[in-house]
Amino acid sequence: MTLQGRTILVTGAAKRVGHAIALCLAGEGARIIVHHRSSPAEAERALSDIRSAGGAGLVERADLSDAGEVRALVERLDRAGTPVDALVNSASIFHPTPLETVDEAQWDAFQDANLRGPFLLSTLLGLRMRSRGWGRIVNIADWSGLRPYRGYVPYCVSKGGLITLTKALARDLAPSVLVNAVAPGPVLPPPDMPAEERERAAARTLVGRWGSPGDIASAVKFVLSSTYLNGTVLCVDGGRSIA
Ligand SMILES: NC(=O)c1ccc[n+]([C@@H]2O[C@H](COP(=O)([O-])OP(=O)(O)OC[C@H]3O[C@@H](n4cnc5c(N)ncnc54)[C@H](OP(=O)(O)O)[C@@H]3O)[C@@H](O)[C@H]2O)c1
Repeated sequence: MTLQGRTILVTGAAKRVGHAIALCLAGEGARIIVHHRSSPAEAERALSDIRSAGGAGLVERADLSDAGEVRALVERLDRAGTPVDALVNSASIFHPTPLETVDEAQWDAFQDANLRGPFLLSTLLGLRMRSRGWGRIVNIADWSGLRPYRGYVPYCVSKGGLITLTKALARDLAPSVLVNAVAPGPVLPPPDMPAEERERAAARTLVGRWGSPGDIASAVKFVLSSTYLNGTVLCVDGGRSIA
């Protein structure tokens, strides 16, 4: 199935993994809605990279942890007559929350950004896709949503919830809208991650190295192009989840 001419909203697309996904899908001929929250310059640069490569798209901003902003984003797209054929939920927050200091504000922040935002956006756009008779949603989860690691309880729970959301929405939006998750392993370290921690993360995969944002982008392209994957979780993690 070709993605040519499809309009795809990629959240968190100004930078890093989301940026790689957006550029990869644009290369398949899709029109990309480059979503960002606080990176307007990077989002405009991503759009200009897409255009320089012969693609098309637009930039949209929203804080996905704010339900009002999610609804306003969908209403703007409705008013502009921009039907969204596919949604890639990649935006997310990630930082350690040791059990000794984690609090309910941190819990809420993770669930709001990483789970409630994708839930609202997927529901609002998924219903529109279903009424048009075709749609795709890909949630970017994490292998830790299947096997939690220590020191990140709210993050791991948010990603576990995203995996269950994927399956629940696949049921509710069937048969015309297919909903899947891609669960990355270590593909791009946060800029402030110490070198020893990077090395430890690589050593814990079965392949002994970090992957790349391109690995995730290729997986998203594959999942979006499939006509028969539905409700699945594709681990792109160098075997980390079974190590
Ligand atoms: N990097 C990895 O190795 C790795 C491993 C496993 C899973 N993943 C998953 O893969 C996805 C992409 O990873 P990444 O490392 O590229 O992510 P990232 O750099 O941590 O975050 C991506 C973007 O999310 C956006 N964002 C955060 N909170 C938001 C909010 N409340 N509303 C709207 N946007 C928000 C930010 O956009 P602005 O800059 O515009 O604020 C940010 O640039 C994430 O879902 C992550 O959990 C990544």
